[in-house]
Amino acid sequence: MKVSVRTESFLKQIDGTLVLGLFKGEKLPAWTKSLPDKIGSQIANIVDEEKFKGDWSKTVTLRGPIQSKLRIIIVVGLGDSSDWNEEKARQAAGISRSSLGSSQQKKVAMTIFGADNESETAKAQVEGFILSGYEFNKYKTSKESDNNSVQISSLDLIKLKGSVANSLKRAVKTGKIFAESAMFARNLQIEPGSTATPTFLALQARNIARKSSRIKVTVFDRAKIKKLKMGAIVGVSQGSQEPPRFIILEYKGASPKRKPIALVGKGITFDSGGISIKPSASMEEMKYDMSGAAAVLGVFHGLVSLDIKENVIGVIPATENLPSGTALKPGDIVKTYSGKTIEIINTDAEGRLVLADSLAYAVKNFNPSTIIDLATLTGSVVVALSSHASAIIANNAELTKKLIRSGESTGERIWELPLWDEYRDQIKSDIADMKNIGSKGGGAITAAALLEKFVGDVPWAHLDIAGTAYISKSLPYSPKGPTGVGVRLLLDFLS
Ligand code: BES
Ligand code: MN
Ligand code: ZN
Repeated sequence: MKVSVRTESFLKQIDGTLVLGLFKGEKLPAWTKSLPDKIGSQIANIVDEEKFKGDWSKTVTLRGPIQSKLRIIIVVGLGDSSDWNEEKARQAAGISRSSLGSSQQKKVAMTIFGADNESETAKAQVEGFILSGYEFNKYKTSKESDNNSVQISSLDLIKLKGSVANSLKRAVKTGKIFAESAMFARNLQIEPGSTATPTFLALQARNIARKSSRIKVTVFDRAKIKKLKMGAIVGVSQGSQEPPRFIILEYKGASPKRKPIALVGKGITFDSGGISIKPSASMEEMKYDMSGAAAVLGVFHGLVSLDIKENVIGVIPATENLPSGTALKPGDIVKTYSGKTIEIINTDAEGRLVLADSLAYAVKNFNPSTIIDLATLTGSVVVALSSHASAIIANNAELTKKLIRSGESTGERIWELPLWDEYRDQIKSDIADMKNIGSKGGGAITAAALLEKFVGDVPWAHLDIAGTAYISKSLPYSPKGPTGVGVRLLLDFLS
């Protein structure tokens, strides 16, 4: 999709669809009167007819009998102007796209909603518009029947009054890259486990690196993972025929003297639970257990085009978690890359195992200033927060604050959970350095208590995205399915 910013004069030549926003109680703007074919009065009539008052998320749509090339007008209610924020802009743009229905029009022009913080608003509108159009038809053999949405070829943001500053152009470009990077992650998430194997994820990383000399990728196979004594990853992968991969991405955006920020993404390409096998209901959703990895790849997809001025490391432990005669068993003990040992009580608590080796690897080999992991780690976090926020558990208040702030501006909300000694006590083992599950309650936190043991004193934050990585009910700019959560959050954080 081509995204551009235009001045008010563009209104006279709109081809396709025009979206305009109205705050609650706001009158139709004067410029609507100068639209061709008395369209202004047609809009006024329909707004009147449908008693449209600009209430939040309500829309009215005017389709023909417009004579000019302008075919459809959508007015979207922006609600109270005192409640207005970036996330509302994102949602309103998404809602307007859903109102397009199965129209044939491929071009959309949209006014920038509101006159304050135009750059942030326009960026959010671009994101919401692009993200709400997500669909995945790759495996549908009859393309027409189920797919009634439109491929939009261009989105023109219209700045009413005045000229277009470079900062506005840049914001719109940023919005496009943020959204496309999240869409890239969604496309990886949704692939079945048979396609999105560890080898496939490594290939995706290589493809990203091929497009830029600023990204380097290294991939370890099973033999190398064993040789490096990553006993936890070896353990989780030993029940699978499908070979594991340990994927490292390195992005150079600053002087080599500057310590990098490390991002670690859980890449379980299918989580059956292993010998501690999961119930079959909803087990198909466990193809999404590589959503942390998808988020890290989505971030790397965007880094170069955004020209982020940081050094960034991505680490992805990728493997399946399956039961077999060679699988890890409850009661087994693994020796991790760090040397610490973990008693396996439940083979379904595999994410923290592969992350333990990955965190330790990143800390030891890259000396990062900050380390952030993303993982669909626990069902417990879904109980606590549902799909409305990811949990953050961290050892550094400054880092937590920054991530929470990025969560607010990107609409990818995060909520802090505590990490107190009582939780740490829960993972004490009688015969190893720790065990891989807690005794009772607080499952999202006891999982983090294990991770904490592998980051040393590096400022670290763990994001549990089990509730937010995929959703079963559509949101204004996230159709049900994979959300790409984490990508925009971290791009914002890194920016
Ligand atoms: N991948 C799951 C967590 C998960 C659950 C993600 C639901 C998305 C939706 C993880 O590997 C897991 O199985 N965790 C267990 C841990 C338990 C055995 C201590 C859980 O949360 O039930
Ligand atoms: Mn599991
Ligand atoms: Zn898992």
